[in-house]
Amino acid sequence: MATAIMTALASVFLPTQFTNSRRCFFNAYYTPLIKQRSSSFASKIRASSTAFVETKPLDPVVVEKEVSISKNILACPVCYEPLSWIGDRVLSVDCAGSSLHCGCCKKTYSGKETHLELTVASGSSKFDDSMPLATELFRLPLISFLYERGWRQNFIWGGFPGPEKEFELMKDYLQPGLGGNIIDASCGSGLFSRLFAKSGLFSHVVALDYSENMLRQCYEFIMQEENFPRENLILVRADISRLPFLSGSVDAVHAGAAIHCWPSPSAAVAEISRVLKPEGVFVATTFILDGPFSFFPLLGPLRQNMALAGNHIFLHERELEDICRACGLVGFTAIRNGRFVMFSARKPS
Ligand SMILES: C[S@@+](CC[C@H](N)C(=O)[O-])C[C@H]1O[C@@H](n2cnc3c(N)ncnc32)[C@H](O)[C@@H]1O
Repeated sequence: MATAIMTALASVFLPTQFTNSRRCFFNAYYTPLIKQRSSSFASKIRASSTAFVETKPLDPVVVEKEVSISKNILACPVCYEPLSWIGDRVLSVDCAGSSLHCGCCKKTYSGKETHLELTVASGSSKFDDSMPLATELFRLPLISFLYERGWRQNFIWGGFPGPEKEFELMKDYLQPGLGGNIIDASCGSGLFSRLFAKSGLFSHVVALDYSENMLRQCYEFIMQEENFPRENLILVRADISRLPFLSGSVDAVHAGAAIHCWPSPSAAVAEISRVLKPEGVFVATTFILDGPFSFFPLLGPLRQNMALAGNHIFLHERELEDICRACGLVGFTAIRNGRFVMFSARKPS
């Protein structure tokens, strides 16, 4: 049990280099676990806790919706009324630096060098919302730098299959939203936002995160890439619990490895439900801990203290389903591997 908890904490908080050094300490436990995981994931993953499904490449995805000219879905995070562009509307990576105006609040949102700044506190000069530790951690420049340089790769210890396989798996779940717009919520340094934009499967991609440094890192990765489809993506800084989008305007929301970092998973899923169109789809991955380990006596208080720091790495699959249902989403379905879960739910029509 102690090993399971250590693995959980390490996979969320430490980059590979650090956990590798711990590995010497836990070698006897980790080595067989890793071997077992990598071979078992190659052949099968657990679906909805019961059945097994193959992870062979999925059939080619058919884009059913016609790719349409992107509509402006941006809304004021204070009042949720539509935002209008001051000057030309630029729905691309180059929109950073543009400004938007809310006719209702009479508030102007000025863009930063790398992203649009659409938090409620945007424009305030003396106040900066400080968030729980799990959110603040990712605002640090060092963590943003390390994220795709070892930190994210480390999630394989918790059963994550790795970004390429995750992308293949989620394409199937995202099918109802293909051809429409997608929000990559809590995108980090944008590893999936960039894949979404390059795949051409969506009419428009919004890479959204609370961390200005993660967004800056995402911007830099984009600038380093030749022929990146910059017209297909915007970077937005916003809080997941106050999304700057019109209600019922979004075809798909993806949240990779993020729910456990959100200050309030239920407030966030409620916001996701608000912005989704009817039949819009929510797909997410996270760490869970259920089954026999969840009865370990010390887990309750540990879980409570972690939650106070804004970290929810010990959620159960049934809690995820419950949150979705409570926020008006239906058709919950999940696939699992170790502590990894990918689940989806949709807005009813
Ligand atoms: C572990 S990273 C996941 C990054 C990426 N989606 C992935 O799949 O690797 C979690 C992200 O959640 C973001 N986050 C934490 N709290 C947030 C909040 N309140 N609103 C928006 N994003 C938040 C962090 O800034 C961080 O980039």
